[in-house]
Amino acid sequence: MRASVLSDWLAQRIDRDNGQPVYRQLHRLLQQAILSRELPAGSKVPSSRLLAAELGIARNTVTQVYEQLVLEGYVNSSTGRGTFVADSAPDEIVGAPGSPTALDPSAGAGADRPHDPDGAMPEPRALSTRGARLIAGAGVSKRQLGAFMPGVPDVSKFPTRVWSRLHNKYWRRPRADLLTYAPGGGLPQLRNVLADYLRTSRSVRCTPGQIIITTGIHQSIDLAVRLLSDPGDVIWTEDPCYWGVRSVLQVSGLQPRPIPVDEEGIAPSADDLAHPPKLMLVTPSHQYPLGMVMSLARRRMLLEYARQHRCWIIEDDYDSEFRYGSRPLASLQGLDTAGQVIYVGSFGKTLFPGLRVGYLVVPEGLADSFATASAELYREGQLLQQAVLAEFIAEGHFTSHIRKMRTLYGQRRQTLLDAAAARFGDALPAIGGDAGLHLVMRLPDGTNDRDVVDAAIERNIVVRGLSGYYAQPERAGSGLLIGYACVPDEEIEPAFDALAQAVEETVFRSGS
Ligand SMILES: Cc1ncc(COP(=O)(O)O)c(C=O)c1O
Repeated sequence: MRASVLSDWLAQRIDRDNGQPVYRQLHRLLQQAILSRELPAGSKVPSSRLLAAELGIARNTVTQVYEQLVLEGYVNSSTGRGTFVADSAPDEIVGAPGSPTALDPSAGAGADRPHDPDGAMPEPRALSTRGARLIAGAGVSKRQLGAFMPGVPDVSKFPTRVWSRLHNKYWRRPRADLLTYAPGGGLPQLRNVLADYLRTSRSVRCTPGQIIITTGIHQSIDLAVRLLSDPGDVIWTEDPCYWGVRSVLQVSGLQPRPIPVDEEGIAPSADDLAHPPKLMLVTPSHQYPLGMVMSLARRRMLLEYARQHRCWIIEDDYDSEFRYGSRPLASLQGLDTAGQVIYVGSFGKTLFPGLRVGYLVVPEGLADSFATASAELYREGQLLQQAVLAEFIAEGHFTSHIRKMRTLYGQRRQTLLDAAAARFGDALPAIGGDAGLHLVMRLPDGTNDRDVVDAAIERNIVVRGLSGYYAQPERAGSGLLIGYACVPDEEIEPAFDALAQAVEETVFRSGS
């Protein structure tokens, strides 16, 4: 296209009334002309002075557009010689996926096809094998609140006034060191108070230096497996286990070996024991999702086995602050004398899930590496929030909130148990309800619990099917995870009534 033709072509298309700045229109039109080869590689574009005069716009506007096109690699500018279309112009408009082709008559009129000289739609790009497996097996729920969402505490009871007072205090005189990136491991003040809390409440043996602050258990496990294993290494997981953990392990390239659980916790067979893993991941204080407590004998066996075979044990202690009827149990980490347990916990259940603060307690010899790696991989921040949390704990609000919630959730659990017993008696027993935020209601063998979940959703009730937590379908029990903690007292009975209708419709009327 000759310079004068280009000027005419541009003049016909620049629309001063369409609300788009002339600069942006000119930039986009020149990109399109180059991409469609209307302006072929090597051709000279008019001087900024000439083009500005022909279009009746400021020369500075044209100069700026040319400078931008140079930066993006569309044109080269050579002092004294002029501006030329680059030999290697990009094939698609930088920063504008789906932009219309240059001289397409529908250009600018809402044509949202990607640049495509042949007129054929490009093949959609596929996920990696790992990505596709993650999505195919994803367990995350679209709803994160409401009856009977498992794993969610009552966020409406969180003491927001105390929290906002502390927040305001820090924002009133913001400290630069709280607004920059976090030093590896998190805020020392938070690590100090947390070490006190974990020592006294969870019998964890630790110094503040062994604590690494994270964004929650998901991230803690991600960090631990990255630092302590290589792709292809075997990790024992409990079967059933939490779907989120299974996904984190899967994308890390580990090979999970699902180990069944019995009433004493994880129960490796002789064959399992003959194949020591690199890591094992357990929920000793409250098996997820079935709720049993790992016996002392099983704890000792695992610790001794891990010592002999140099395995790491990750202890996921996600909700054991909430035990009803007995005191919270001591951690497995507290029994470890060989420095082989990585303890992970979270404020997601004790305070609120959206806080996204969790922690790892690592053996002393690993503390520096973990602190460095977490800063290196995740470039942590949120120090001001960590300062608020540290003060919240130091002033006693944390333990007092846990105490209040324990009473509240204990009452809600009882209301739910009573409603279930009144409706189904022993036909559908509830298990695992003496701790945590949910219980499991067993369904008759052979029931497809996903059908019940779907029937419940139609009644605006969220529950999760137990079978989905099993890696080995032949082991999978049928049942429902029913979270009671986040359901207001007065809503438990009507919500259970709706759930019971879904159960009756699916389980009993279908004759299973
Ligand atoms: C067993 C278990 N581990 C970990 C988590 C998640 O913890 P976080 O929110 O800190 O990532 C959950 C949440 O439901 C869980 O059930």
